[in-house]
Formats: sequence, structure tokens, C-alpha cells
Amino acid sequence: MVWAPDAEATSRLAGAAAAIETAVLQGIEAQDPSLALRHRPWQRAGALGAILVQAVLVARDRIVLGEVSAERALSLAPGGRFRMRVRRSRPSRSARKLEEALAWFGVEPSPGELCVDLGAAPGGWSWALLERRARVIAVDPGRLRRDLMEHRGVEYLSQSAFRFTPSTPADWLFCDMAWRPHEVAELLAKWGRRRWASLLVANLKLPMRRKAANVEELRGIVATGGWRDVRSRQLYHDRDEVTVTAHR
Ligand SMILES: C[S@@+](CC[C@H](N)C(=O)[O-])C[C@H]1O[C@@H](n2cnc3c(N)ncnc32)[C@H](O)[C@@H]1O
Repeated sequence: MVWAPDAEATSRLAGAAAAIETAVLQGIEAQDPSLALRHRPWQRAGALGAILVQAVLVARDRIVLGEVSAERALSLAPGGRFRMRVRRSRPSRSARKLEEALAWFGVEPSPGELCVDLGAAPGGWSWALLERRARVIAVDPGRLRRDLMEHRGVEYLSQSAFRFTPSTPADWLFCDMAWRPHEVAELLAKWGRRRWASLLVANLKLPMRRKAANVEELRGIVATGGWRDVRSRQLYHDRDEVTVTAHR
């Protein structure tokens, strides 16, 4: 993949980078037509056990090359910039965070699965779950967008997530609460301990300094709830926050 850095001096090179990429991929295909790589090559790189080669156009006359095995790459998206189209009807930009998180996790809710969405307002995550025809319990003292409040796949509860107890275990726990991360991590651990959900996707806010040390600690707290494979990553759409996934 060939790309130009997102910076004032280099973003105007994006068109040239795309043209180089097309030419390189056409060259590869000409050598071996079975390598039909032209269509989003990075989405297939992991599956192929491939080497990921990135070429960064840093100036009109300078390109920097790097390679890593696709399994070890932090991201398979060009420059880690996981861009995707999310329909305009989404209630908030947060829907993109969830799309990226699910792509990273490698699993996503199936139709009919029960998802609890803590810190759901105005409803970007709930909307993305409904798009997958999951059932959603949305918990937030703030209101969801009107069409979501009226959606038959949504049960909206105007209350604090810290006071919410599910009446039946859920398949998925989603959490994007804007609240102190250590308290949120304790809440996620409680959900694990009580077996209230099987899969977890959470976004923890990190307004503090020493973010890396805090993430380590937060992951440890979540794991005390019996969650397995607790992974964390600052994804492309994350700002001062980190995405955490796990399963039971
Ligand atoms: C970043 S927004 C969530 C955006 C949402 N995921 C979306 O896609 O639209 C954070 C939300 O956390 C909610 N929140 C903060 N404290 C909460 C609590 N104790 N219980 C439930 N929600 C809480 C806020 O009301 C706010 O709506």
C-alpha cells in the first residue's frame, strides 16, 4: 500500500500516492494474475499470511519503504488509518469507533443477539448494532435520538449504568461511557464476574497523563472479572481513549 502522511505539507501528495499504488498493483497482477490484490489489498493481507509492505510518499521525490509480517502489524489499514463509510443517518460520529473496534475484534453481533450499550446516547453505537439486526438495551441518563427511542429493537433505560442490572444475561456488553476509567473498568469486571455478558467491547476515556501505565492497570482490573484475552488498543478513531475487547 502507498500513502501520504496526514500533514499540511504531504496530504496534497495523496493523489500521487494512489497513482503509484495502482501502478504497483497492476505490475504485480501482470506478473501473476492469481494475485487479485487491487481491491483493498490490506483487508486480505492477514488471511494470506502475507508480508505487509508500506510505501510512504513523504515528498514529491522521496518515498520510504517498510515491511512487516501481516500478523505482527499493528494495523492492516494504510498508515493505520482505518477509514470506512458509515451512512449519514448515523446519530453520532462514535459509530465509526465501534465499526473499527468490531473490525479489530474480528467478531460482531449476529441478528437477534442481545447487546447492552452502556453510555449509549445519542445512539451511534446502538444504531450500528441495530444495522446488524441485534437487539439493544441502551442505558444512559441522556436521551437517544428520537427515531432510536422509537425503534422496536431498542429498549431505552434512562438511568446510570452503575445502577443497571440486566434481567437476563446478554450476548454482548458495549460501553462508551464518558466516566472515570477506573470506575468503568470495575463495572466491566463486575459484568464479567456475574456472567452478565459473553463478549465485551468498551471504550475507556483517558484524560490523564501516563496513559500507557493506566491502560495496563485498567486491563488488569477488567481481567479480575474473569474476562479472557483482554486486549487494548488506541484505534485510529480513538482520541484520548482506548478500545478494550475481551470474551468470557
Ligand atoms: C461518548 S458519549 C457516548 C456516545 C455513544 N456511544 C454514541 O455512539 O452515540 C458518552 C455517554 O456516556 C454517558 N454517561 C456518562 N456517565 C454515565 C453513567 N453513569 N451511566 C450511563 N451513561 C453515562 C453520557 O451521558 C454520554 O451520553
